[in-house]
Amino acid sequence: MKTILYMAITANGYIARKNDETPWSKEEWGSFFSKVKEAKNIVLGRKTFEMMKSNGNLKEIGDPLVIVVSNKMKNNLDNPNYLFVNSPEQAIETLKEKGFNEVFIAGGAALNSSFMQKGLVDEIYLDIEPFVFGDGVKLFSENDFEANLELLSIKNLSKNVLQLHYRVIK
Ligand SMILES: NC(=O)c1ccc[n+]([C@@H]2O[C@H](COP(=O)([O-])OP(=O)(O)OC[C@H]3O[C@@H](n4cnc5c(N)ncnc54)[C@H](OP(=O)(O)O)[C@@H]3O)[C@@H](O)[C@H]2O)c1
Repeated sequence: MKTILYMAITANGYIARKNDETPWSKEEWGSFFSKVKEAKNIVLGRKTFEMMKSNGNLKEIGDPLVIVVSNKMKNNLDNPNYLFVNSPEQAIETLKEKGFNEVFIAGGAALNSSFMQKGLVDEIYLDIEPFVFGDGVKLFSENDFEANLELLSIKNLSKNVLQLHYRVIK
């Protein structure tokens, strides 16, 4: 089972403005979309899930199976495409049981951080957007971990947007 963390970030490491807005490019969105399509699933923190659901992003990315990590929300079965679990381990286990071979982790900061802290991320894609923010939402919410990375590839998504692909060395 391969776990992939995929994020758009500013040149100084923020994944959203302070007010949660994300001004990312259509090229970044297109690359994200094609990776979700390959994985056919997406694992989201409860806050990112609520944002993506209410602004129609989940429909736009083709309604993949959504695993929402939350301590508060439970399965209500009004949409069988949304499954609620209470830990990163349970997200991976649920996708394994359903026969997936990739876990596509797509934020936000708290979710990213808890997967990293538990050593559960195999690869990281960072799409570097041409912005710096003085303040905002960090790639990882503060937590106690450190990881060494191997750079697997660098790709230009456009003249202005660079994609870095890393392996997490275990
Ligand atoms: N740039 C990008 O590519 C990108 C992608 C996604 C999101 N974002 C941005 O990220 C921001 C949201 O990030 P966030 O850190 O505030 O929220 P988040 O990670 O989306 O959601 C946080 C919530 O997820 C649940 N959660 C996370 N880790 C958990 C764990 N280990 N066990 C149980 N539950 C867990 C908890 O839900 P409960 O409170 O329900 O228990 C927690 O309150 C937004 O600004 C969004 O725009 C950016």
